[in-house]
Amino acid sequence: MSPTWGLASFLGNVFSCEGVEVVSALRQLRETLRSVLQLKPIELHPTRRRLARSASVADMRLIAKRRLPRGVFDYIDGGAEDERTLRANSDAFAKVTFRPRVLRGVTDIDVSGRVLGESTAFPFIMAPTGFTRIADPQGELAVARAAERAGLPYTLSTLGTRSIEEVRTAAPDARLWFQVYAWRDRALVADMVRRAALCNYEALMLTVDTAVFGRRERDLRRGFSLPPKIGPGTFIDGALHPEWTLSFLRSEPIRFANVVGADVGDGSSPVDLAAYINSQFDPGLSWSDVEWLRSLWAGPIIVKGIQTVDDAVIAAEMGVEAIALSNHGGRQLDDAPAIFDLIAPVADAVGDRIEIISDGGIRRGSDIVKAMAAGATACMGGRAYLYALGAAGEAGVDQLLATWSEDIRRTLALLGVSSMSELDRDVLGPPRTNS
Ligand code: LAC
Repeated sequence: MSPTWGLASFLGNVFSCEGVEVVSALRQLRETLRSVLQLKPIELHPTRRRLARSASVADMRLIAKRRLPRGVFDYIDGGAEDERTLRANSDAFAKVTFRPRVLRGVTDIDVSGRVLGESTAFPFIMAPTGFTRIADPQGELAVARAAERAGLPYTLSTLGTRSIEEVRTAAPDARLWFQVYAWRDRALVADMVRRAALCNYEALMLTVDTAVFGRRERDLRRGFSLPPKIGPGTFIDGALHPEWTLSFLRSEPIRFANVVGADVGDGSSPVDLAAYINSQFDPGLSWSDVEWLRSLWAGPIIVKGIQTVDDAVIAAEMGVEAIALSNHGGRQLDDAPAIFDLIAPVADAVGDRIEIISDGGIRRGSDIVKAMAAGATACMGGRAYLYALGAAGEAGVDQLLATWSEDIRRTLALLGVSSMSELDRDVLGPPRTNS
């Protein structure tokens, strides 16, 4: 019996007003409702409930926005000045169209990638992010563990809030990379590099786009410091986000875990990050520093922050193993080029000599497919996993990586391509002009 007919016959029965018929009509109603209603059990576990509501990075971003104090969210979410480069990074992916080929008999799909000569579950590297513990008390440990489970490399930042050693202990089998800034105190850098080697880190990533700190206007408006300090504004912000505030107050103080004990200030009392970086980092960094790093480190070196073909060519000539095309997630020089737009010209110039990591704007697995088709060796990103971490902690990062792996598999299936290594520019259509 159709639900509509069931309901009509129930109403007819009720109006007949005879007791027996009312009872049978109620029974009938119960049956009818059973056939049309599918009640899902209510998820009581708060993290699982949030995860069940997140289908995309955009969903995770909105949940993180609700859960984190505004100052913390804006530090993660924001970029430099008018944030045009921040937006351009993901807009560039939105402009790319596909040319799906059909009837190609693709059944087995291989989403794995290869970076620095080793395979990855899919071609993605977890980017270094400073102050990760402001998104979740576990911070870098949670991200490194999720990367290890997913079979992806994780890069610890010099400005990490967990140390080189703690991260290795938390993720003993992970492919760990260590990111370095050029501190004025080069002995400090040399010491961190030595510690990374002792802890079996695989590669060094030198960030070269931070000669001086970008102007993050959201942070300036709030007077935001790291770690967040308690003032009238942050007090109200914190009171409105009690779950975050309680876990922040309960966990050990946030600080730059890799420089504790050094003479540079470890962030254990709140610092204005711009002032800190401008006083500690060497704006005179040059290619000779890359040579200096080479003298300290036997493993692969990745130069992160390349934004022109000319500099990509110099990096290839210097013999570094990889470059990361990166504008620091739009957090440094506004109006620097969108990363996707750099991939093809850089790949044409140096793709046969050096690995090219595309860092910026990745929000979906299909973005990874687009970057690989354009000529990248692998992709990298930080903001997306910080949203996941802020939305649902370590389980959020697990869910994000599982979703991206499935996205890539589905995208390849719909493109008629069976593996990442088969991708080339043939799968890309003309850029969309109206997005
Ligand atoms: C930033 C630095 C810390 O982008 O990497 O905030």
